[in-house]
Amino acid sequence: MTSENLNSMADLVSLCKRRGFLFQSSEVYGGMGGFWDYGPLGVELKMNVKNTWWKEMTLRKNIVGVDASIIMHPSVWKASGHVDGFIDPLVDCKQCKARFRADQIDLNKACPSCGTADSFTEPRDFNLMFNTRIGPVEDTSSVAYLRPETAQGIFVNFNNVVETTRKKLPFGIAQIGKAFRNEITPGNFIFRQREFEQMEMQYFVKPGTQMEAMEEWKEARLNWHLKNGLRSENLKWEPHGPDNLAHYADAATDIEYKFPMGWGEMEGIHSRTDFDLSQHEKLSGKNIKYVDQQDGNKKYTPYVIETSVGLDRTILALMCDAYQRENAGDKENERVVMKFKPHIAPMKAAVLPLMKKPALEEKANALFNDLQHHFHCDYDVSGSIGKRYRRQDEIGTPFCITVDFDTLEDNAVTIRDRDTMKQDRVSLDKVKSFLIERL
Ligand code: GAP
Repeated sequence: MTSENLNSMADLVSLCKRRGFLFQSSEVYGGMGGFWDYGPLGVELKMNVKNTWWKEMTLRKNIVGVDASIIMHPSVWKASGHVDGFIDPLVDCKQCKARFRADQIDLNKACPSCGTADSFTEPRDFNLMFNTRIGPVEDTSSVAYLRPETAQGIFVNFNNVVETTRKKLPFGIAQIGKAFRNEITPGNFIFRQREFEQMEMQYFVKPGTQMEAMEEWKEARLNWHLKNGLRSENLKWEPHGPDNLAHYADAATDIEYKFPMGWGEMEGIHSRTDFDLSQHEKLSGKNIKYVDQQDGNKKYTPYVIETSVGLDRTILALMCDAYQRENAGDKENERVVMKFKPHIAPMKAAVLPLMKKPALEEKANALFNDLQHHFHCDYDVSGSIGKRYRRQDEIGTPFCITVDFDTLEDNAVTIRDRDTMKQDRVSLDKVKSFLIERL
């Protein structure tokens, strides 16, 4: 048996469309660059990843969640530095009108799109925030932004959370939600999008203890990716040197994943100092200080360790890592199998009546109805059983349960393991416990 990893993103894009993980947004109108829709399987996969992150963060004594609005007071983005500083340098090719980020191409070379030499405009600053207007009057006072990161919704709720939960430092606030960036060059499937989802946690600590907290979170975050099934050889740390530290950080490191197009950032762990809370204090004129009852009621602005992971990039990494092309010697037995960990897999089991016969379907339906209260299950009756196994392999279903003619006699079914393809005969009343044990 030979086994091959994913080596071209195109293979994954095609599987995702064919099986219903992801579709181009507004595809019937030709699609839109940087926007994607999750299909029936993609949405389950996404839910599973969100749930593992949410549990990882909030099933602790000292982390709580919020769900802030996407459009916030415009001053939030002035305070955070996004209005003045969330900028990429942009150039256009005068010949073919293609648009590039000036820092990603060599301006002395020909246009990568049409090959014309000396064709670029002067670089100009381009703010990546999408703006919109609030209310019926179109004047400058009605301008608002779609949030480019979820973090600020956490910072501006710092006082509310401290007052309502009475949490003591160190404690964290977690949030999952959409973020929007008008990327100049979206691409590489869902790696760089204009609308995406972030899972961010701000961990507030006493000034001076931030590096210790950062080390703890670095370890916790890497372990989370490993627990979800990413292979350690495909993960690495990418520390930020003094030249590429963000304006708010005194230390930062990324977790990068080895995507088919090369290493790319999946998560950032940033020591954001007291920058954000101090800025909001300054611009809002409100007191945003922590009163440390364990330290003589001293008042200070907490420091922050942020863990910020892209949900879509995590999903992309999980799909890239899970993808295996296996060949048992002949074309007939070649299969593509998504080896998701069971807690990540969109479907946990598939119930497959061997043929479209009422007696088999009756048994299969009864089993499906029982199992679906406990696991997400698929039910598939059309096509040869071999084809149906291949389909379930491609969507990463850990177990296929076949109801066959013997079932009518012995009240047992065949359960096929996705990875080993080994088959077990299990009595119908034991199927649930068989799956619970293995999932
Ligand atoms: N609050 C900090 C922050 O937003 P970031 O490094 O700009 O930091 C965090 O973004 C994560 O969000 C990235 O590691 C990446 O996973 C994800 N992300 C950023 N831009 C993205 C984009 N255009 N498309 C998809 N995911 C993106």
